[in-house]
Amino acid sequence: SVLEMEVEQINKGKYDHYMQKEIHEQPDSLTTTMRGRLIRGDSRKMKTVLLGGLKDHLKTIRRSRRIVFIGCGTSYNAALASRPILEELSGIPVSMEIASDLWDRQGPIYREDTAVFVSQSGETADTLLALDYARENGALCVGITNTVGSSIARKTHCGVHINAGAEIGVASTKAYTSQIVVMVMLALAIGSDTISSQKKREDIIDGLLDLPYKVKEVLKLDDEMKDLAQLLIDEQSLLVFGRGYNYATALEGALKVKEVSLMHSEGILAGEMKHGPLALVDENLPIVVIATRDACFSKQQSVIQQLHARKGRLIVMCSKGDAASVSSSGSCRVIEVPQVEDCLQPVINIVPLQLLAYHLTVLRGHNVDQPRNLAKSVTTQ
Ligand code: G6P
Repeated sequence: SVLEMEVEQINKGKYDHYMQKEIHEQPDSLTTTMRGRLIRGDSRKMKTVLLGGLKDHLKTIRRSRRIVFIGCGTSYNAALASRPILEELSGIPVSMEIASDLWDRQGPIYREDTAVFVSQSGETADTLLALDYARENGALCVGITNTVGSSIARKTHCGVHINAGAEIGVASTKAYTSQIVVMVMLALAIGSDTISSQKKREDIIDGLLDLPYKVKEVLKLDDEMKDLAQLLIDEQSLLVFGRGYNYATALEGALKVKEVSLMHSEGILAGEMKHGPLALVDENLPIVVIATRDACFSKQQSVIQQLHARKGRLIVMCSKGDAASVSSSGSCRVIEVPQVEDCLQPVINIVPLQLLAYHLTVLRGHNVDQPRNLAKSVTTQ
């Protein structure tokens, strides 16, 4: 009806689509996610993380033999992005499970495990089934959801709300970045506050507090991503190479592109390049290489050289100031993003790819907010 259309336009504000609104909302949604949970004082000791829903269970989590992340789609990718920092700060092995696959295999889950269920809606059938299974096997179950009162929030033993605000677009954007921030806070909460980790922990907290401003900065790439989308509009496929902290960015960037723009896209772990994907490289296939500054930077530089040597058509995402060095071995298009703490870089790096997926979809004339065949919440198996 006309009324419904008007209400919808009011909800979207100045934006044409929910996905666009939710991408641009991220500086605010991240702020809400962190509100009341990070405390920065003058004295060094005052920098801490408070996750109310977990405080009675932190001891048990610290004693667990393994942490298992379980989710589907974008929520799985958010967990994957957070795995390295959780392992680094806690020293506990972290394994990853796609909910349906855990169930298909009836994979081992033990009493000594902490199972962390990540879900925007809190209602995904596969994730719920895995939750029942993990509970039956005696694991401590932690929920990370965006929906207060959802099934996953109710059935887990404890948890953290993402507080990103309602997400309407089927393709998850602001929930993804808020999930990563919650899981980085989780890593800080679980990790022990040793003297040797003090500096790192404080840098991460400062980085978290600064993150909304850095996201605002990276959102300024909007026009540049629209130009890039224009260049790629008729392509059949787009590859995205990442590793380390940004392996998840590669998977999530490719997921965004395929689910909304309906262009084939694949996220590839750069370390696997020589074991197959390299055969696809020619002067036509566009390839995004994520090569921002972190411990994997020099490895990614050599990936770029090898792709250049095979005349690959590269779009390199790098830290501000690195454009010249990443394109020294051959010509490529460059996306320069602000540099942040390594574990927070995935929050920055996904934004240009969200914008690219959005613009590609609009330019190709597809439905942005409700891609064909997909649903926001998959409540059937
Ligand atoms: C569906 C949605 C995705 C989402 C996935 C998991 O496939 O289209 O955007 O990532 O479900 O949903 P959840 O609510 O559990 O995060």
